[in-house]
Amino acid sequence: MQAVTSQSAGPLRGTITVPGDKSVSHRALMLGGIAVGETRISGLLEGEDVLATAAAMRALGADIRRGEDGLWTVIGRGVGGLCEPDRVLDLGNSGTAVRLLMGLLATYPFATMFTGDASLNSRPMERVMAPLRLMGARFTARSGGRLPITVEGGELVVPIEYELPVASAQVKSAILFAGLNAPGQTIVIEPQPTRDHSERMLRHFGAEVISEDLSGGGKRITLSGQPELAGRAITVPADISSAAFPMAAALLVPGSDILLRNVGINPLRAGLLDTFREMGGRITLSNIRGEDGEPIADVRVEASALQGITVPASRAPSMIDEYPVLAVVAAMAEGTTHMPGLGELRVKESDRLAAMATGLAAAGVRVEETEDSLTVHGVGSASNVGIAGGNTICANLDHRIAMAYSVLGMVTARPVVIDDGSPIATSFPGYVDLMNGLGAKITVG
Ligand code: S3P
Repeated sequence: MQAVTSQSAGPLRGTITVPGDKSVSHRALMLGGIAVGETRISGLLEGEDVLATAAAMRALGADIRRGEDGLWTVIGRGVGGLCEPDRVLDLGNSGTAVRLLMGLLATYPFATMFTGDASLNSRPMERVMAPLRLMGARFTARSGGRLPITVEGGELVVPIEYELPVASAQVKSAILFAGLNAPGQTIVIEPQPTRDHSERMLRHFGAEVISEDLSGGGKRITLSGQPELAGRAITVPADISSAAFPMAAALLVPGSDILLRNVGINPLRAGLLDTFREMGGRITLSNIRGEDGEPIADVRVEASALQGITVPASRAPSMIDEYPVLAVVAAMAEGTTHMPGLGELRVKESDRLAAMATGLAAAGVRVEETEDSLTVHGVGSASNVGIAGGNTICANLDHRIAMAYSVLGMVTARPVVIDDGSPIATSFPGYVDLMNGLGAKITVG
């Protein structure tokens, strides 16, 4: 346990580059590990979640090294070429790592055992096991379909056509990764589009992946099985989900003006930019370009007077990890922000709906929580009542809850204490120093 205290700060100013995108980093190591030849990755996120994936891929036979220049190289084993690990794969806090690896290994004729920390071992895994069983995999799981779990591929690997019952890029990716080692076409239908990093990166490595728009807004993704994947160079964009915290802080702290470089702005990830702008946030993109299949830009954020809005439920998948910090921003906006369609927040690293409703209320904000929505009544930045703060938040092994409340502490009358800031290292190593470098006042211990 490592307590973190955040208190009101002067303007935030400066130019920063937040660490690499977590979703892209996991996928680069996994696909690099099953490509033939060398994959060179620059900008890989060196957070605990991704390092857990690197360790797992090594245990499965991939040769993964970090150069002194921070460039990572992966020598892959080819599709179908992973080997039986001699230990239980512990993926720590990472749902993405475990779910995607379950897919990757669901077609192999050996048993792979997975476990994680207390948070990961309480999260639902049936959502990936159900489609993978249809492809021939067998699972042994703890009650409630929870980790620890063992997966073993069947004698017959069957490609499937599967419609996602939940909007989840992790489930989609698990099925596509299993489909890599299946004959014929694997098809995923998603009624609500989710982040498409897997599809983009699979194409980058040479797989045939066709994505068709469906009437009604969904997508149909078709992967041709057993491709030859060739090692590639990959530049990982800065993670918009990490950028969300300094962005939110800069919007809220009067006089702030910051520039974030090389931020991934994939439209299926960047819903927060639309939301902040609709609230009145002054956000300017420049230097928009593409890097190895992913769009990126430099993002300038200036302190702004914000209004409450209703965030359309259809936008939720494109900013699903950003709701905790959005709830903090909403608390300082003028008027009410309504956020429907958030049922999935209950099964993230913690129950994020409850964590935001409870912590904001304890800080003095009026909040309403339903099974799948959050409504925050903002105090308005011009208010001289403000938000009291002075409370202690339980992070519950959830990095984004810890960081969201560190942003709240920058604008409350009294400091906000987070009981344990150590989970921040899962996705955003160096967070405290980077924020303090901009002008925040966050102390550890
Ligand atoms: C991720 C997908 C999302 C997201 C997670 C990363 C991914 O999860 O919350 O942080 O990399 O595919 P779901 O697939 O459960 O929505």
